[in-house]
Amino acid sequence: MKHWIVCAAALLAAHAWAAENSMPPTKSAATANVERGRKLLISRQETGCVLCHKIPGMKEGGDMGPNLGGLSQRMTADQIRQRIADWRAVNPQTFMPAYFSTKGLHNVAKPQIGKTVLTEQGLEDIVAYLLDATKGP
Ligand code: HEC
Repeated sequence: MKHWIVCAAALLAAHAWAAENSMPPTKSAATANVERGRKLLISRQETGCVLCHKIPGMKEGGDMGPNLGGLSQRMTADQIRQRIADWRAVNPQTFMPAYFSTKGLHNVAKPQIGKTVLTEQGLEDIVAYLLDATKGP
């Protein structure tokens, strides 16, 4: 009996982890564009990703976050999408900004209130670039 309860709890926990840890494609995934993703990633104003990450295909890159080389070998598209959209559900202490959330963002300028940093299309474009740029040989 006890055993059963422990098993059920472990299953529930695993399920919650998987759900928080990944985000299914949005409807804009169908029109994702690698080149638009590259432009967003490289833009310090629009995303600032290169301030913290080294990214394949880009010269400049910071060291605050992990090198994104080989990303598609260690994460699924859904996991990459979740990382960019909002990683706070999994790691509340994260330095990584939530790019597709309107909740709990600090120092948001008035015209930006209620808006996400990335559009749904922008999020999908970035996921497309990262998958393309880090796919195996
Ligand atoms: C302020 C610094 C910062 C910025 C800006 C930033 N990130 Fe991150 N990112 C991090 C850190 C730190 C981590 C490590 C995970 C954590 O903190 O939980 C991370 C993790 C990741 C990961 C998971 C990598 C792995 O191997 O585990 C991906 C993918 C990612 N970031 C993509 C992006 C993209 C795309 C952008 C721009 C839209 C971006 N990041 C902007 C700091 C940043």
